[in-house]
Amino acid sequence: MTAESHISVRNVEVHFKLGSSLFGTSPVVRALDDVSLDIPKGCFFGLVGESGSGKTTLGRAILKAVHITEGHVQYDDGEVRYDIAEIEKAELKDYRRRAQLIFQDPYAALSPRMTVRDIIAEPLEVMGITKTREETDARVREIAAKCRLNLEHLRRFPHAFSGGQRQRISIARALVCEPKFIVADESVAALDVSIQADILNLLQSLRTEMNITFLFISHDLSVVAHTCDHVAVMYLGRLVETAPTRTLFSTPHHPYTRALLSAIPSLDPDDRGKAQKLQGEIPSPANPPSGCRFHTRCPFAQAKCKTDAPEWRQVGDEHFVSCHYAEELLDSDPPVN
Ligand SMILES: Nc1ncnc2c1ncn2[C@@H]1O[C@H](COP(=O)(O)OP(=O)(O)O)[C@@H](O)[C@H]1O
Ligand code: SF4
Ligand SMILES: [Mg+2]
Repeated sequence: MTAESHISVRNVEVHFKLGSSLFGTSPVVRALDDVSLDIPKGCFFGLVGESGSGKTTLGRAILKAVHITEGHVQYDDGEVRYDIAEIEKAELKDYRRRAQLIFQDPYAALSPRMTVRDIIAEPLEVMGITKTREETDARVREIAAKCRLNLEHLRRFPHAFSGGQRQRISIARALVCEPKFIVADESVAALDVSIQADILNLLQSLRTEMNITFLFISHDLSVVAHTCDHVAVMYLGRLVETAPTRTLFSTPHHPYTRALLSAIPSLDPDDRGKAQKLQGEIPSPANPPSGCRFHTRCPFAQAKCKTDAPEWRQVGDEHFVSCHYAEELLDSDPPVN
């Protein structure tokens, strides 16, 4: 693990068994297959890929919300250091306070029968962080103000609020115990575009103000462009490319990253219509393609891609990719079919 890593994921596998079979072994979904990455302290780290690529599973593995079949996750915030796959029960309570999740759907995540004050206060009470009601109220007011919630609204119920306000309530609840690391899983996906920017700005200012490291998960590369310092791209349970955001957008090396980027609607009229649509559906991780997993959809695939899995290679400063032909393809357009 590098000196400044907050989260260090090493060769992590998460397998889900699908049902049980009387004959032979039951099928296994390899939701994460040999995933390694480092999230530096204070980073706003983006994780992108189509639905089903394993993003949520990676976030949940780091939060110890799914069983890690193999590999290690190291957590180090400067105060404590944990090996998450092997963490003891006694340490888990402390870890739950330090590492939190902001849910995708602010409608489903908030109990309709609790006031906003009680929703935000609950983690403080469950974790025994505050001792008196006054202390709890003070902490709730403080975090509500940081999340730019109107303090008058603390007595109301969540149904009275819009999607954006509800997401602020979810964020306040996730941050009230002063976590050091947050997984924000599709946290703006359910919101109107006009509200998305507000919530992204709020997360950015909270990151600086509270010194939090973020894993920001999104299926939408355009959201990541203006928010994240660094981006990792996943396909079918594996990482295919990671780079500082600016590098990823200016010189994407992996054909999958290029396809995702070209699907973003362009503001430049000359570029419109050049979108390189991804062919076909994402294959099942219970039966992934041989060799390079992207070969069934890659416009550049060669014979070798069907048999040999590409290595994870460094191609630039903090820029890694897994494609046999990444450099050679840089200047080629995909064949028109
Ligand atoms: N609890 C589970 N049981 C079985 N399969 C699962 C489970 N959770 C996720 N999966 C499967 O693992 C793969 C990755 O899912 P997920 O991590 O949710 O992807 P993403 O967040 O990128 O959409 C999918 O094929 C999904 O169906
Ligand atoms: S290794 Fe082959 S199939 Fe995979 S992304 Fe590169 S060119 Fe495409
Ligand atoms: Mg998901």
